[in-house]
Amino acid sequence: MSDTIKRINELKKEKNAVIFAHYYCPEETQAAADNIGDSFYLARAAKETDADIIVFAGVRFMGESAKILNPGKTVLMPDMKADCPMAHMASAERIAEVRREHPGIALVCYVNSTAELKCASDVCVTSSNAEKIVRALPNREIYFIPDRNLGKHVAKAVPEKTFVFNDGYCPIHHGFSEEELIRLREEHPRAEVMAHPESRECILKHAGYIGSTAGIIDRVEHSDADEFIIFTEKGINYALKNAAPEKKFFYPGCGCECADMKLNTPEAILHVLETGENEVILEPGTAERALAPLERMLELGK
Ligand code: 13P
Ligand code: SF4
Repeated sequence: MSDTIKRINELKKEKNAVIFAHYYCPEETQAAADNIGDSFYLARAAKETDADIIVFAGVRFMGESAKILNPGKTVLMPDMKADCPMAHMASAERIAEVRREHPGIALVCYVNSTAELKCASDVCVTSSNAEKIVRALPNREIYFIPDRNLGKHVAKAVPEKTFVFNDGYCPIHHGFSEEELIRLREEHPRAEVMAHPESRECILKHAGYIGSTAGIIDRVEHSDADEFIIFTEKGINYALKNAAPEKKFFYPGCGCECADMKLNTPEAILHVLETGENEVILEPGTAERALAPLERMLELGK
């Protein structure tokens, strides 16, 4: 065990702190974490933790959601620059316009969004519960923000509802190439193809399984296949290897690393545990207003 990890473990005990990490974080960070998971799992865990401090190795919207769901806790981000670009790809002006044009529409907000966007929303969703929640809503019209690809994937699964989409996207998943997927499939013809729903339709149409990061891991564990082509961020490889060490995984080549997630190094975690820097603090009133759509997600997503 490195000196950094030893010191992290000492400080965790001393300060009653826990480390949460998303599957896209660096391997050493996932190895040091108390809780690793997808966005939905980590949001629920943040609400339930008894710790005084949550060090959230993820991107900013994840730390914000933890703070909103459990405002009495101190939430520290290892690096404040770790932000999801898609979280900013919707606007209050467009929301107001759509609400005016479509009275009765439900504003469904993917959790990969700023706290301000959540405040304007009726319900939040993650990639693991979006279909279920959209289906459960009483509204027939859905405005899905910010991710167009996930929105279109949900719309296909819930054809009885009509959708207004927004132009946001994840630069990593949106960039995956269909040619590369076809090439990987030719090289590994026995492999099962899996994709995260932030990918474009030209990728999703080839996938035997589409789901959140936790969904992909679960599917790998339970599948009879022993080779997989995985179209999501490569950090998931650590959890996949732990879940199924005998199986083989193939990924798209360059451009499939989320640089923001990789900022969550053990050194950055140790620094915030030592100093208390990088605390998530929300504008007055924001946490209170963003709580209702997040709690509705936890309730409908159960
Ligand atoms: P998951 O909720 O599936 O872990 O996805 C989070 C994310 O940021 C995907 O890019
Ligand atoms: Fe955001 Fe994409 Fe990184 Fe996920 S992989 S945090 S959606 S930029």
